[in-house]
Amino acid sequence: MEDVLQIGGVDLRRLARAVGTPLLVYDEEALRKRMDQYAAAFRHPQLETQTVYAGKAFLCGAMVRLVDEAGWWLDVVSGGELACALRSGMPPRRILFHGNNKTPAELAAALDAGVGAVVVDNLPECRRLASLARQLCKPAAALLRVNPGVEAHTHQYIVTAHLDSKFGISMARREELYAALAELGASDYLTFLGFHAHIGSQITDPAAFAAEIQQLAILSQEAEQRGYQVPVWDLGGGFAARYTQEDNPPPVEEICRAILDACAGQKAERSLSLKRVLIEPGRSVVGEAGTTVYTVGWLKSTPAREYLFVDGGMADNIRPALYQAQYRCTPVERPTAPPARTYTVAGKCCESGDILIQEAPLPAMKTGELLAVHTTGAYCYSMASNYNGLGRPPVVFARGGKARLVLRREEPEDLLRLECEEGISL
Ligand code: LLP
Repeated sequence: MEDVLQIGGVDLRRLARAVGTPLLVYDEEALRKRMDQYAAAFRHPQLETQTVYAGKAFLCGAMVRLVDEAGWWLDVVSGGELACALRSGMPPRRILFHGNNKTPAELAAALDAGVGAVVVDNLPECRRLASLARQLCKPAAALLRVNPGVEAHTHQYIVTAHLDSKFGISMARREELYAALAELGASDYLTFLGFHAHIGSQITDPAAFAAEIQQLAILSQEAEQRGYQVPVWDLGGGFAARYTQEDNPPPVEEICRAILDACAGQKAERSLSLKRVLIEPGRSVVGEAGTTVYTVGWLKSTPAREYLFVDGGMADNIRPALYQAQYRCTPVERPTAPPARTYTVAGKCCESGDILIQEAPLPAMKTGELLAVHTTGAYCYSMASNYNGLGRPPVVFARGGKARLVLRREEPEDLLRLECEEGISL
């Protein structure tokens, strides 16, 4: 008799019976440990440091509370994420507000809440933020997002720092950059803190961050020669998670040390006024801690492959279809059974591309068995859709043999809650 797969000491078969499938379960201790590991590693004798969790990877009230307890800051990118953070008790001063096209309402909400900093993306946004701050009499600190043009090795959809990326002001557009600094400098309500950059996702090579840091250092030196102080650098996220055996992210300690040594090196070499460095990991905090449990439905053979259908799919994990992301899976009730077949794990959505795993080596599987797909903690729930009228799965945090439901299953009634029949007065 084999052991059943467990997460956080919780038997996944019993959990699946209790809350149904598909379900997304997080190992809460792994989340806490990962945050503590980063916080301990991201320290330097000559620099102040701060870790900021990128909420876009996965956000809900329970996650906000873990982030807060771990002493991290939180990065939000919309009024929706900001509302979640505030409602869940995140101190506004420890929130960064990001986004390339924040609406005036979102900027006003950020000012109103008194967030720690607004990460300003472009020149028109600088102007709008300055005028809103004056109008509302709300001061704010601002980081200016720049695009250093560093292309980290990654899938092209995920790169955000190509020179033609939609994020930040390109470092090739110095005039615009200095116009933005002048705009921030001229405002009585805004304080320019420093530069922000984000060079991509699933980065495994510290040299990519060193290249980013060098670009920020060149820019900061130039800005300081023009009379602007640049005490803060926010280097963004992009730290890799281990999805399959082929992924080999360097240890957190190694990458943090490389980053901070490069920052301190540039500070010394160029006599910069840099005081504080921030990083914004998302995926590497939550990715590996999450597992999706599905029930196996029908099995079907074609001349080319053996399909194994599960009761979810691209609605709860769009990443394989969108980025050709790779995942691995385990049969929950016999996790160590040797593989006997190669299955194509496909979802239940009306879309041929709804394939979660192209080639999954598994024992011969039966309808009704449970299948765990690993490393689904980042950008699965947050990118989930209701395609085909599917509800989002429940989310469970498991720790020390106990499970707690932190997001309940989205039921058909939830999907219908927006229905209405109202006249519109124009
Ligand atoms: N900071 C900024 C400004 C970002 O744009 C991002 C991610 C992060 C931090 C966090 O990056 P991470 O450490 O999680 O790589 N949907 C894609 C990922 C898009 C990431 C966008 N920005 C995916 O599923 O892979």
